[in-house]
Amino acid sequence: MWSATRFTVSHFVLLLACLHQQACSTSSSLPCNLRGLGNGNSVCVCNATYCDTVTPLPQLTEGQVAVYSSSEDGERLAFSAAPFLKTSTGLVYEVLRNKTRQSIIGFGGAFTDSAGINIASLPQAAQDKLLQSYFAPEGIEYNIGRVPMASCDFSTHQYSYDDVDGDFQLQHFALAPEDLKYKIPFIQRAMAMSKRGIKMFGSPWSAPAWMKTNKNMTGNGTLIGQPGGPYYRTWANYFVRFLQEYQKHNITFWGLTAQNEPTDGYIYKHYFQAMGFTPEQQRDFIKLDLGPALHNNSFGDVKLMMLDDNRLLLPYWAEKVLSDPEAAKYVSGIGIHWYVDQFSPLLALDLTHQEFPDKFILATEATVKVVKIGVWDHAQSYASDILDDLNHWVTGWTDWNIALSTIGGPNWVHNLDNSPIFVNATAKEFYKQPMFYAMGHFSKFLPPGSVYLEMAVPSPSPYVKAAAFLRPDSNVAAVFLNMDSSSVLLSIKDGSRYVNFDMQPYSLRTFIWK
Ligand SMILES: *[C@@H]1O[C@H](CO)[C@@H](O)[C@H](O)[C@H]1NC(C)=O
Ligand SMILES: *[C@@H]1O[C@H](CO)[C@@H](O)[C@H](O)[C@H]1NC(C)=O
Ligand SMILES: *[C@@H]1O[C@H](CO)[C@@H](O)[C@H](O)[C@H]1NC(C)=O
Ligand SMILES: *[C@@H]1O[C@H](CO)[C@@H](O)[C@H](O)[C@H]1NC(C)=O
Ligand SMILES: *[C@@H]1O[C@H](CO)[C@@H](O)[C@H](O)[C@H]1NC(C)=O
Ligand SMILES: *[C@@H]1O[C@H](CO)[C@@H](O)[C@H](O)[C@H]1NC(C)=O
Ligand SMILES: *[C@@H]1O[C@H](CO)[C@@H](O)[C@H](O)[C@H]1NC(C)=O
Repeated sequence: MWSATRFTVSHFVLLLACLHQQACSTSSSLPCNLRGLGNGNSVCVCNATYCDTVTPLPQLTEGQVAVYSSSEDGERLAFSAAPFLKTSTGLVYEVLRNKTRQSIIGFGGAFTDSAGINIASLPQAAQDKLLQSYFAPEGIEYNIGRVPMASCDFSTHQYSYDDVDGDFQLQHFALAPEDLKYKIPFIQRAMAMSKRGIKMFGSPWSAPAWMKTNKNMTGNGTLIGQPGGPYYRTWANYFVRFLQEYQKHNITFWGLTAQNEPTDGYIYKHYFQAMGFTPEQQRDFIKLDLGPALHNNSFGDVKLMMLDDNRLLLPYWAEKVLSDPEAAKYVSGIGIHWYVDQFSPLLALDLTHQEFPDKFILATEATVKVVKIGVWDHAQSYASDILDDLNHWVTGWTDWNIALSTIGGPNWVHNLDNSPIFVNATAKEFYKQPMFYAMGHFSKFLPPGSVYLEMAVPSPSPYVKAAAFLRPDSNVAAVFLNMDSSSVLLSIKDGSRYVNFDMQPYSLRTFIWK
């Protein structure tokens, strides 16, 4: 009772403090327009004139903790405040400010053809609200954007940037109508809205069919010949041409992955665009073709990532590629996908980091394959995987399509997926799913440059996952996930101060303090 009273008083004080500052006004943020869909499922509905925004972080004073909460029962980044106390009343998570690890690169999603088609189907003002939700200061402030190089399964048809057989000079290289209509304009608008800046990275699904052993962008096929040969060399120059063409539209890329899911291209009759590389082929392609091509064309600073495939393939792929110093010198990081993470021990991330401490690990793709609207469980899956990754040296997390239709498309092979935002073009509205807010608990409050802090947890709960960071503004942020059907009493300890809180069933919270 005593602490409950203190909570209320302090909450009131913080809100008052908040009201005295222009920067923080809880009333200036717009609440979620929650639409229940039955079975506990719900979305926040946005349209051309209304969309919820995130309460800005108030100017924090000593002893105050800002709290953002989302839960299965309908909270969506709801702001509140809590005090620091002298004693703990729950399981203690002690933040060790002097035990630091990796720093955050960022969080984001992908500008696919399908995302662009969906965004374009909304009225202009609703498009702005959607992009602001992700990229603007009033939104969850994504700072990473992935761009498929030419078509992938989330396109309406197959195409490359140069389908002219034998064009080794890439004289016919040209961006597709999809780039000009569905990718570039939205990337430019997102960039203009962002305060943090957006780190863009490109990923190819397949080379043009004529460069491949099976003369097909799908199926089991690789580039013709060997690394260092004419097809590999041309394919490396294709990356350079892609970067140059986007630069003409003022879009400068931060990074590239050498190939999306290189193991897909070894699957018999793989049904959408793919291209196979063994780890040895990827090593030699990077060493002999892609690394030199980027360096020779003033793209030596572009962060090249290897793998871009399931975490399960670590540390094997990293060892194969990075044990060759001539390949390793071109590689900045390792991209991982979350599919089959349930079979992938987290120890593999620790080993990979131990062996190659100067290469960052970044999650480059994830999606929920079950297309069901408004489901909290999907938010929990995201948050759980993100926390696992962050607790094992990963520097950020990239979602897949930033927007899809309510059936999870379009996708030319009907490989439909979930997305944090579903667009309903008929109703001229879009739906922010629980997953959107799960991403926000990280992207909004762990800006790039935030440094991981270890926590000492004497008696961890099997249902709770958590991670803490020291932000560039010197505030500490900690994200907690409760996966249990009952609430759990937790205490964050920082020095000799404690924040005690009752973590509701199936909930996520981000705490921020000085
Ligand atoms: C948008 O949604 C708000 C809140 O539900 C509603 O009041 C408004 O009429 C809607 N606007 C349009 C253009 O549909
Ligand atoms: C690290 O911080 C803890 C308390 O948070 C303190 O007890 C310890 O002495 C510090 N260690 C170093 C090496 O500074
Ligand atoms: C690129 O940026 C420059 C300078 O801001 C501007 O003049 C130019 O119009 C932009 N070009 C495109 C294609 O957006
Ligand atoms: C893929 O193609 C290669 C070369 O044509 C062939 O040797 C291999 O058996 C094929 N693998 C599968 C799984 O179809
Ligand atoms: C490409 O492969 C698919 C099956 O993997 C096949 O249906 C299609 O006809 C092939 N296309 C060409 C141009 O060979
Ligand atoms: C890069 O430049 C070097 C030196 O000019 C040259 O030997 C090499 O062939 C070039 N490689 C590529 C892939 O362009
Ligand atoms: C999309 O909007 C239409 C028209 O308002 C409505 O009938 C339909 O149920 C909506 N779809 C979803 C998945 O909410």
